[in-house]
Order: sequence, then C-alpha cells, then structure tokens
Amino acid sequence: MKGSDRKRILSLLRDLIYQLTGNYYPEERMRIFEYKIERLLKNIGMDRESPEAVMTYFMGKGRDALIDLMTVPETKFFREREQLEVLLDKVINGIPAPEIASVGCSTGQEPYTVAMMLRRRGRTGRITGFDISLGVLEKARSGIYQIEEIRDIPEDYRDFIKVKGNVFEIKEDIRVMVNFKRANIIDPSDFSGFTGTFDLVLCRNVLIYFDRSSKEAALKNIWTILKREGVLTISSTEILGKEFHDLFEPFKVGKFFFYRRRG
Ligand SMILES: C[S@@+](CC[C@H](N)C(=O)[O-])C[C@H]1O[C@@H](n2cnc3c(N)ncnc32)[C@H](O)[C@@H]1O
Repeated sequence: MKGSDRKRILSLLRDLIYQLTGNYYPEERMRIFEYKIERLLKNIGMDRESPEAVMTYFMGKGRDALIDLMTVPETKFFREREQLEVLLDKVINGIPAPEIASVGCSTGQEPYTVAMMLRRRGRTGRITGFDISLGVLEKARSGIYQIEEIRDIPEDYRDFIKVKGNVFEIKEDIRVMVNFKRANIIDPSDFSGFTGTFDLVLCRNVLIYFDRSSKEAALKNIWTILKREGVLTISSTEILGKEFHDLFEPFKVGKFFFYRRRG
C-alpha cells in the first residue's frame, strides 16, 4: 500500500470510529490505533486495497468487526468494589428492587458483580447491561469466564459461581437478574424504550474515551433513561466537568462522588 493511501485510510477510519461510537483517538493513542487497524486489514486480506474499497467494506459488512476491535473492553469482577458498596448501602439503599443500567458493560463482569452484591445483601433488583460491541455482549450473555478470573471474586461470593474445569459460570439465580442489550450510548433511538427507567446508571470507564461532544450526547441519553433523582456513577478515577452540572448535580458520600439527575 502506498504511504499516502495508508495515511488516508487511517485518517478516514479514525473519523468513522468516532462517528459510529463516539470513541475519539487522540494523538497519544494513534500508535495502538495504527497497529490494530493494520493487523485487521492484513487478517482480512485488505491491506493492499484502495482507501475507497476499505471504507466501503467498513461502512458495510465490516462495521461490527471494526467496532469490536476499536472499543476497549477491559473490565473485571468487583472493580472498585468499595465504590459499589457505598452505592448499594448508602445511596440506593432505600430502593427495594432497584432498576440498574450498566452502560458500556463490556463482557458482563460489572452487571453480574452488582447482582451478586444485591443478593448477598438479601436484596433483589434488575440490571440491564448495554454495550455497542456485539462481541462483548455474546460473552456477557454466556455467563462463562476463564478460571483465572476467579481471583477477582471474593471468597464469600464464590457460591454464586460454578466451576467447570478451566472455566466457571454464573449461577442461574444471579443470571435471572441480568439482561443485555446492544445500544450505542450516543444514539438516542437505541434508548427510546427506556425513558425514565433507571434508579442508577453505572457508566464507568467509558466516557474517558470520548471527546466533549460525544460525552455530551452520551450524558443526555443517560439523563433521559434515569428516573427523576436517579443517580449516575462514573469511575472514581473520572470526573464529570462543570459543563455537565446543569444535567447532573455532584454529591459526595464518604470519599466518593456521585451525580444526581437534575430536573
Ligand atoms: C473499558 S470498558 C468498561 C467496562 C465496565 N464498565 C468497567 O468499568 O469495568 C468500556 C466499554 O464501553 C463500550 N462502549 C464504547 N463505546 C460505546 C458506545 N458508544 N455505546 C455503548 N458502549 C460503548 C465498549 O464496547 C466497552 O465494552
């Protein structure tokens, strides 16, 4: 491939990924971006095609593969456990059967963790995991994980899983509390059936990959699917800038910040 074609393909794909997912690749992440794209093009035998042919492919048949590859699925069971404990015990403790959304749920560890934590407390609730990537949702729905991940599950929660050789599966009483749906957080039409539905939206480690404009689109959707006074939780390593405080009011419980829907 000519150097100028290569540059053009990378630039067009970077824009396409942004349009499709809101994920923005800044200069400092361009090396990983280039590496992933070049490997993908090689794998599908398109590394010698013209920019036009490559774009036609990724705007059509190759769209889902591109989304799967370019979104970051990193997650784990009981990630930021203390933050979740404060949420369940001090923020939404008064809601008997909370409706919870995990937006950007990846392979399911976050929604299953919340379900286990509710059950451990003798409570129930319903958790809906949303993600744009079909690949991660397939794994999430299977409820089956490699045995190495068991280290993330505290001993006193292991009765919620069943070990089968070199994998373990989430038991049925937890799985019935969780369901998964494909949705693009920047697309309002994907959430049209969920207006005012959720007491709590977890959107942790997702918006860090967005720029200001896609963040705004995502936060408007989250606002819409929350109930009045519903709570948004981002990771404790993230911050919701002042420019969004007209949608969400920050409040602090212990050392954690949460965000309450305004209006
Ligand atoms: C780093 S993971 C975070 C997983 C989990 N929330 C956690 O904190 O462990 C980010 C997830 O957000 C999803 N994601 C990225 N852009 C999205 C979008 N526009 N709509 C829905 N999900 C998106 C990715 O597919 C990925 O699974």
